[in-house]
Amino acid sequence: MPADEGSLAHSPESFRDSRLIPDSSYSLTNRLDLEKIFGRRAPLHVDLGCGDGSFLCALAQRLPDKNFLGIERLSARIRSSARKAASLGNVRLLQMESSYAVRYLLPAESVETFYLLFPDPWPKRRHHRRRIVTPDFLDSVHVALEQNGITYIATDHLDYFRKIKEIAESIPGFAIEDRDVDLPQSRFRLIFEQRSAQIYWLTLRKVSPVR
Ligand SMILES: C[S@@+](CC[C@H](N)C(=O)[O-])C[C@H]1O[C@@H](n2cnc3c(N)ncnc32)[C@H](O)[C@@H]1O
Repeated sequence: MPADEGSLAHSPESFRDSRLIPDSSYSLTNRLDLEKIFGRRAPLHVDLGCGDGSFLCALAQRLPDKNFLGIERLSARIRSSARKAASLGNVRLLQMESSYAVRYLLPAESVETFYLLFPDPWPKRRHHRRRIVTPDFLDSVHVALEQNGITYIATDHLDYFRKIKEIAESIPGFAIEDRDVDLPQSRFRLIFEQRSAQIYWLTLRKVSPVR
């Protein structure tokens, strides 16, 4: 199978030219060795639920001095991201539940910037518990961020936006910032903009150290 169409079950050799982090040489319980994975030390940006990788790869191309990790649970989207990332040396991909990866795999204070763009809103009340943004999740994000690290969150769903903001306000280690965001287009942002949907942005900055 071509390197860019791999799954996590591939041998390390088959990943030599791929951007996927193999599971065969990595434990799923130990923290990621970021220097080994990227082959260098550089500020880390993490796209949670990176979808088809459009946004991740456009930003990685724009910022070659940063390392980019895309986390996505669906195989087809990881494959699509891997094809886009094939020529980018600063991108790696992990097929994984974002909340698990943030909580258990990312080292504390290792992330300069998180992006959570259009997380599934699960609009029905009985499905709200499936939403990724919970107090525990934002706590894990806080631990993984460097001091002054930033988290960008975007959604078209007003109710979810309000809930996320309420949770963020309850965590004293975050400051909610009002700043213009100049980021590349993501696939879902494009879809929502084409429908003229309102997009709600939240920018969180870590203002206090790991508790
Ligand atoms: C609405 S799409 C947005 C994709 C991309 N961020 C964009 O803006 O185009 C949500 C993405 O998050 C992924 N996703 C949802 N929950 C996830 C989770 N818990 N862990 C990893 N990926 C997740 C979905 O598979 C999907 O690709």
